Amino acid sequence: MPLREDRAINQQLHSIADTDKLKSSPVNQSILKIWGPSRLKGNISISGAKNSALPAMAATLLSSGVCRLRQVPCLADINIMGQVLSALGARIKHNTNTFTLDIDASIINHHEAPYELVRQLRASFFAIGPILARLGVARVPLPGGCAIGARPVDLHVRGLQALGAEVHIEHGMVNANISGSKKRLQGAKIYLDYPSVGATETLMMAATLAEGETIIENAAKEPEVEDLANLCIAMGANIFGAGTKRIVISGVPKLHSVDYTIIPDRIEAGTFLIAGAITNSDISISPVVPKHLSAVISKLQSVGVKVIQETSDSLRLLPSEILKSTNIKTQPYPGFPTDMQAPFMALLSVCSGTSDVTETVFENRMRHVSELNRMGANIRVKGNHAIVKGVPKLSAAPIIGTDLRASAALILAALAAEGETTFQGLQHLDRGYEQLEIKLQKLGAKFERVDLVEENEIFQASI
Ligand code: UD1
Repeated sequence: MPLREDRAINQQLHSIADTDKLKSSPVNQSILKIWGPSRLKGNISISGAKNSALPAMAATLLSSGVCRLRQVPCLADINIMGQVLSALGARIKHNTNTFTLDIDASIINHHEAPYELVRQLRASFFAIGPILARLGVARVPLPGGCAIGARPVDLHVRGLQALGAEVHIEHGMVNANISGSKKRLQGAKIYLDYPSVGATETLMMAATLAEGETIIENAAKEPEVEDLANLCIAMGANIFGAGTKRIVISGVPKLHSVDYTIIPDRIEAGTFLIAGAITNSDISISPVVPKHLSAVISKLQSVGVKVIQETSDSLRLLPSEILKSTNIKTQPYPGFPTDMQAPFMALLSVCSGTSDVTETVFENRMRHVSELNRMGANIRVKGNHAIVKGVPKLSAAPIIGTDLRASAALILAALAAEGETTFQGLQHLDRGYEQLEIKLQKLGAKFERVDLVEENEIFQASI
């Protein structure tokens, strides 16, 4: 849908100086103190999906007009993606009161994404597709591995090559350009060896501006892929089948402005449902798309809690005194999401009986286990498999989060644990959960964010 008031929005857009505000976001030096056990009550409002907003921001590079994205959460990752777009020449304004992000990518005068930013945010690599499709050339650093695994980008690269790009990797940089006399990428048949979310998104975005038809077989079916396709369609792209394993894109020469609302975050929603279950609480969450949470709801029901759909976009969790074990195995959507594995394991640690947890998506996603065990859980890990023997209760301890979802898992455990937990790792949590502790505090949880610098000063003064 083209924007009717491009010019008005344009006038509101600040220059690159605005994006400097993003750069000066405070570095997270805080710890979180959590007092448990908590009992929660009330309604939690769910933010827009981080994993939709990030590729959506990259997709605005495809448009030569001004794009408005709504329900964009205020998160560190969004700030970094904003800085990447800004480094390419886009002008950005994030109104954090209305969760609206205006991106003017009419002028893109750089084709290289800075390493300093890409290394902090793997998803910013996904911008390679739009940069290449729009400018015919792109230089994006390899993002490298991260706390949960090696995370290669070979499927992105091979797909771009199939679309006619010349790609060579040297000195840690992926250099891609449209080869020969062709000005546009060329439609192609692409089979993904694995239904990678990011590769599907990179290639779908690149193919929107390609000449001819592209078919992506074995595509990822995640709701965020479908959301990205809907955004591109609203910008004038021809995309069919997003949300299924076969996506067909018929390229167009140009995409236009858009005003688009990001879907609710299913991972944040699932995390709050688990918060309700682990604290034996009656809570509601909205807005959500209940269908996106099917696997998580089904497993919550297996452990004994009830999840009822109150309205088309809200869910209520009714607690159960007795929580029973269940098995989970992570899989691409519509299977159980890997991003919910750690938070769900926190819940299983207090379910009676023995639960099996198998991680199949990432190779190194069990680092929360040792910290959960320090809180009294009884979990044994072998490779990508965990055996969780339920314990009657957890006890508070100093804990460290190693990645985003591991951190969420530890916070959930702390809500149920007796005593004062000190959590380190807010830099991970703040990447992907908007005001997690403030939302939980409203329901009755007891948190305090403590500035480490202040703590040190107090300590020194008392020596
Ligand atoms: C996205 C999500 C992340 C989620 C993951 C799986 C974003 C910003 N992040 O990450 O939260 O956990 O989907 O649902 O949307 N792989 C390759 N080669 C590639 C690409 C991927 O081997 O070129 C492998 C990965 O190493 C991993 C598996 O495929 O083992 C799945 O990764 P992928 O679906 O690509 O995850 P992301 O898009 O990075």
